[in-house]
Amino acid sequence: MAAEKVLVLCATGKVGRNVCQALAEAGFAVYGTTRTSPEKLRQQGVTPIVCDYTKAEDLDRALAESGATKLFVITDYFGAAGRKVAREVQQGRQAFEAARRAWVQHLIFMSVADAECFDDKTEHIKAKVQLETELRASGLTYSILRPCAFFENLDDASNWNPLKRGVVKFLSDQPIKYCSTYDIGRAAAILFQNPQEWAGRSLDVISWQGDLAALARALEAVSGEKVRHALAMPIWLRRLLLNDLHHMFLYFERDKGPKGEPEAFRTVVPDALSAEDWFRFHNRYANGEPIVSA
Ligand SMILES: NC(=O)c1ccc[n+]([C@@H]2O[C@H](COP(=O)([O-])OP(=O)(O)OC[C@H]3O[C@@H](n4cnc5c(N)ncnc54)[C@H](OP(=O)(O)O)[C@@H]3O)[C@@H](O)[C@H]2O)c1
Repeated sequence: MAAEKVLVLCATGKVGRNVCQALAEAGFAVYGTTRTSPEKLRQQGVTPIVCDYTKAEDLDRALAESGATKLFVITDYFGAAGRKVAREVQQGRQAFEAARRAWVQHLIFMSVADAECFDDKTEHIKAKVQLETELRASGLTYSILRPCAFFENLDDASNWNPLKRGVVKFLSDQPIKYCSTYDIGRAAAILFQNPQEWAGRSLDVISWQGDLAALARALEAVSGEKVRHALAMPIWLRRLLLNDLHHMFLYFERDKGPKGEPEAFRTVVPDALSAEDWFRFHNRYANGEPIVSA
């Protein structure tokens, strides 16, 4: 039987790349959108569709060209939406409308865990709440994945936090709930394979909880080298320079959100990645050196 076709939007990003990998491993024929990097996707075994997901006509063409009956929707607040809530809502809505025009059988939207619980200053999460509401009313067959903080933030050179040998840094040193973008993809595969069970439902993607010291211990265990930990910047500077993210962290730190627990996610993805697992899976520092030598 031919593999079922899935189209992943924003396939070259931190989420998209690993979602494509997990879906391909689960046996789907994976198509991914990119504006400029088809070769990157090809090397990963993903069929590239050159497409700007912010343009309705590109989305229509991507769905027609791929023949995908399943669609994984990622919206990009910081880049594509230019940090504008209304623009991210418009971009997400356009993807839902394109899915309807193409008779997509199952759409998964990547939102954020407890999106409705963040305070009014947490701008970058507001569009997710609105898009979840619109999706529920859309008539589409949908599911929603709601991830917490990505482990990938621990190696994010484009946001001034490259992972370096011997040190792990983040914007909070408090206990926080994490997940890997790979597990977002593994969960998506399960949801796409079981539409009757998952249609109209959401799932929090949470696989581990710990503070920065525990993250350093995890990297130490995996690398076999001493690892120190440090805040990427003092909290007063986080408040001053990254006020939006600062307020997201207040929900994590002060309110101990999100409410979901790793044990619940493990009932769906039993081997969801812990911090140690993620360092092994990621297996590279920002300079390309492996964490675990072969
Ligand atoms: N970081 C976290 O802990 C966390 C947790 C939960 C949810 N999230 C959510 O994750 C999402 C970000 O995903 P990500 O980390 O995968 O993003 P990313 O790595 O920045 O990737 C963004 C993607 O968008 C495309 N893109 C960028 N600028 C664009 C533009 N101007 N026009 C059209 N396409 C553009 C890029 O594709 P091409 O350049 O190849 O076209 C790229 O694949 C956000 O919505 C955020 O709210 C993040």
